[in-house]
Amino acid sequence: MTETTAVVDSLLENIADQYPVHRSFLDQAISGATPEEVTRLSGYLSFCMGKGLTLDYLAESYLTILGDTLEEQIYFRDHGTYRHSTFAEVADAVYHDREYMDRYMYGLAITNFLWPNHVEMARLLHRTIPRDRGGRYLEVGPGHGFLLLDAIETGSFDDYLGVDLSAASVEQTRTIVEHFHPGAPARVELRDFLEAADLEAGSFDAVVMGEVLEHVEQPEVFLRRIAELAKDDAYIFITTCINAPAVDHIFLWRTTDELEEMITGSGLRIVEPLRLPYEGKTLEESREQNLPINVAYVLAKA
Ligand SMILES: C[S@@+](CC[C@H](N)C(=O)[O-])C[C@H]1O[C@@H](n2cnc3c(N)ncnc32)[C@H](O)[C@@H]1O
Repeated sequence: MTETTAVVDSLLENIADQYPVHRSFLDQAISGATPEEVTRLSGYLSFCMGKGLTLDYLAESYLTILGDTLEEQIYFRDHGTYRHSTFAEVADAVYHDREYMDRYMYGLAITNFLWPNHVEMARLLHRTIPRDRGGRYLEVGPGHGFLLLDAIETGSFDDYLGVDLSAASVEQTRTIVEHFHPGAPARVELRDFLEAADLEAGSFDAVVMGEVLEHVEQPEVFLRRIAELAKDDAYIFITTCINAPAVDHIFLWRTTDELEEMITGSGLRIVEPLRLPYEGKTLEESREQNLPINVAYVLAKA
């Protein structure tokens, strides 16, 4: 066993000890990871431990998101809606609760390596982000900072701006970038994207927004603002989900068609869609049974 795999194995062992029925899922998940992804996860865990976090805490963070999501799935099955539908209902309990938000974002970062749909969505960004383009990169809601980190490593933009309204997310994104790429031309600002009126229309070469749209009351306003800020030939990448309850998901799309109509009605065009069914089901079965579908899209201005 190398040092790289040892820390990953320790995390997985720790999670499986606390939640044994999850062991075979974890074994399968990690066996599907590329060596590069295992190295990334290992680097991330070492970075977290360098901040003074323990593997126990990181395992608990992952289990928090898993447990909370399962609980919300039961609510959704029983009621047919998400538990909350306004930002005010979740803002203080999630985004502005430092302790919870920290755990949530560390846990979510780990799902990017273990949950097959999250892995596939991150791979789509990695594969499609322009490698030969300068200019400005904007990311809305970087959270744990992993997509921004990948953009810095894979892309070739002249400057990178992240905008997030949660102090925990801003701290996590700033520190991950400083740790892995000290001196990178990146800024992370604590602000609400919709209130960032000073961002200049038509000035961004890339706009990325992972897992934010389902957290807001008016996703179409976000999509239209992205179309406005992007240059005519900008690279645009978003991810979101359908029928996928979580503690802070407030906007519910019941079909991919509903979502895609909203995207195309907001001045954007779908270049490459990725529609991922619930594990073990086909897209058709997921649709029929109202099971979660994850989606990622490479977009362009219409
Ligand atoms: C679920 S996390 C997504 C993290 C990461 N982008 C990913 O793809 O996994 C959502 C993030 O969006 C941020 N967010 C939600 N509404 C926002 C808004 N109006 N402006 C800026 N950030 C927002 C939250 O604070 C949180 O950090």
